[in-house]
Amino acid sequence: MINEISEKLAGFGQEHLLKFWEELSSKEQGILVSQLNDIDWKDLDKLIKEYILKKPDIKIPSDLSPAPFYPLIPKNKEHQELYEQAVIRGKELIAESKIAAFTVAGGQGTRLGFNGPKGTYPITPVKGKTLFQYFAEKIARASEKYSASIPWYIMTSDMNHADTEKAFESNKYFGLDKKNVMFFKQGTMPAIGRDGKVLLDTKYSLALSPNGHGGSLLALRKSGALDDMNKRGIEHISYFQVDNPLVPITDPLFIGLHELMKSEMSAIMIPKTGPFEKLGNFCISEGKTMIIEYSDLPNALAEKKNSDGTLAFIAGSPAIHIISKTFVERLTANGFISLPWHRADKKVAYTNDSGVRVEPDKENAVKLETFIFDALPLANNTLILEGDRCKQFAPTKNKTGIDSVESCRQMLIDRDAEWIEKYAGVHIPKSLQGKPDCILELSPAVYLDEEDVAMRKTNMILQKITRGSSEYFE
Ligand code: UTP
Repeated sequence: MINEISEKLAGFGQEHLLKFWEELSSKEQGILVSQLNDIDWKDLDKLIKEYILKKPDIKIPSDLSPAPFYPLIPKNKEHQELYEQAVIRGKELIAESKIAAFTVAGGQGTRLGFNGPKGTYPITPVKGKTLFQYFAEKIARASEKYSASIPWYIMTSDMNHADTEKAFESNKYFGLDKKNVMFFKQGTMPAIGRDGKVLLDTKYSLALSPNGHGGSLLALRKSGALDDMNKRGIEHISYFQVDNPLVPITDPLFIGLHELMKSEMSAIMIPKTGPFEKLGNFCISEGKTMIIEYSDLPNALAEKKNSDGTLAFIAGSPAIHIISKTFVERLTANGFISLPWHRADKKVAYTNDSGVRVEPDKENAVKLETFIFDALPLANNTLILEGDRCKQFAPTKNKTGIDSVESCRQMLIDRDAEWIEKYAGVHIPKSLQGKPDCILELSPAVYLDEEDVAMRKTNMILQKITRGSSEYFE
């Protein structure tokens, strides 16, 4: 058997992966063989030629135009009526238990530099609830509010699966019914040196990393999650990233519009803060919706203005989607999915030919990933709805600065302060810059949305919030 593998590797110029074979214990040999057998070497060889040995040309379609979207506030009577119907339909779909929550949490979270799955990061400003707890409480409240079952699928990766499950076990699933929470792992891809050679992590294992959030579509099928959804009568999947606690998981308007407009894959868009904000851009080419990454959109297009001075390519993606289950079934029907690969140059530690572990100080390898948004052009019908950044998008990528723990916490405080002020009329002390001069936190287990705050305002109406104080409402 090893001879066969060895021959195959030699055929693709990857024989170095067996360099330490004779030194390995039988357990280690088993690990290596299993990893080598998991790879389709013919496919990988093709990818190496296309994406590693040369930098792939990014082809930007010549007819690229900004994608249209439904505005946050309906602009005419027709839209107003549509939105009203959509909210009703969205609430029905949730109440009929046809909506599943789906978190992609397989990433490595390198920028955050946190030792543990990103979902276990303590994010909330007063109680330090983790991202997973925050989502769990939202799901619990939505289930209670709509008397519905909302199963939660969580995609992990080899790197964090066990720790993620452990975090849920030791926190008693944050009060959710264990039967309604399902974890599954995404696929991996080996990191490849710029010379096209697959890197060894140790003498007996490859330098593997998760294959991108696009891997979630196939993982939904391979893991049996789609079958589970079928048993439960799920129709639509509410897709979100693990790093955005503000995500509206069960937004009736978004869910209702998705269904009423017969969309297969829908997306929230937020207006970009400037031409070069690091968000994917919603575009149209040949009638197909697509996202062009910020790094690929030509400057001339990024800076292009409408006659009223607004950016033409204004629609940025916060990676919030409603995806029809039947769409995922169709895309993955043959047991594979054809999404384009994206190349990322990274620092990857490896074991060199002399058996020495190398920690590179600059980028030495390429990781290949697929992205969820590349499924948009494959959908027969798509829909884009404008979202409200302040209420829906607080990504936690870094520790400080832009898109960080700091900015995320501040956004949570700002949003909660706005709701408390608006619905309960409670005075919030403000700084000279107009920011809340106190630390506030609403429990999503009680205050899922504005309706909840309006309905339960008596819980907070008598509250006196002093400058610099820290208040938690549950
Ligand atoms: P990011 O692209 O922000 O990556 O992922 P990351 O791993 O969280 O962070 P960095 O880039 O290493 O600092 C966006 C979302 O997609 C998920 C992440 O867990 C996050 O929710 N993701 C990313 C996956 O589930 N799998 C992947 O292979 C990559």
